[in-house]
Amino acid sequence: MKLSLSFALRIRNLAAPFTPLGATLSMENNNHHHHHHQRRTTNSGVESSPGVQKLQQLVKTNSSAGWEESWKQGVTPWDLGRPTPVVLHLRDTGSLPMGRALVPGCGTGYDVVAMACPGRYAVGLDISEEGIKKAKQMSSSSPNADYFTFLKEDFFSWCPTDLFDLIFDYTFFCAIEPDMRSAWAQQIQNLLKPDGELITLMFPMDDHAGGPPYKVAVEDYEEVLHPMGFKAISIVDNELAIEARKGREKLGRWKRAVGNSSL
Ligand SMILES: C[S@@+](CC[C@H](N)C(=O)[O-])C[C@H]1O[C@@H](n2cnc3c(N)ncnc32)[C@H](O)[C@@H]1O
Repeated sequence: MKLSLSFALRIRNLAAPFTPLGATLSMENNNHHHHHHQRRTTNSGVESSPGVQKLQQLVKTNSSAGWEESWKQGVTPWDLGRPTPVVLHLRDTGSLPMGRALVPGCGTGYDVVAMACPGRYAVGLDISEEGIKKAKQMSSSSPNADYFTFLKEDFFSWCPTDLFDLIFDYTFFCAIEPDMRSAWAQQIQNLLKPDGELITLMFPMDDHAGGPPYKVAVEDYEEVLHPMGFKAISIVDNELAIEARKGREKLGRWKRAVGNSSL
């Protein structure tokens, strides 16, 4: 039952990663009528999105300058314009750890603001000055303003004084070069308290070549997180994914096994 449902969603979901919702829906309709379902396993979906193509050109040469340039040019095809629905769900059902929360590669930072509350101080990190500027503008009149901050920092070299109870990664893991994934896991370990929780919204779980966004699989996370002592507590399909990403997202929750022993 579950398999066939997710298969149906995947078949309907032919659009490029990061394609804005509107564009995706019309592409889906188009593909439906013309039966171009085989597109999904090729690279043509990615190539056919001008925003993603432009992003890849910009980030290709020098990633840090490339991200800055994409923010300056408004090439932000990943941006939902609102908090991620599953983050709101986790927050509202009390399933987000309290304490200090970090969102690396936070972009406009809707999720940072959504997580912030008196019991949870949220830090949004982005390497792009322009991105951080957008985040501060977006959030300037938030009633939660005392409970979050945005910092322009390179995630890989950042060394804060206080560790985190929660790190939430969405579309950051897929944005970095795949050869940086071990360093990503090492830094997650450095920044998280021993009993802290890592939540990964894994996307895009598909089969395209190139990036960003680079394709991801659960095994890609396991490969770098297991050596750091992290184990998945749960991995589930994200049924709250936005339409354009349905069937290509899983929510993973990870904790370190070390130090939890009561033997
Ligand atoms: C695909 S966007 C995702 C933004 C946000 N998570 C969202 O879902 O809207 C990736 C973001 O990571 C940022 N980024 C890339 N490399 C970074 C690094 N080394 N440290 C911090 N941020 C980085 C980029 O500037 C960009 O804003």
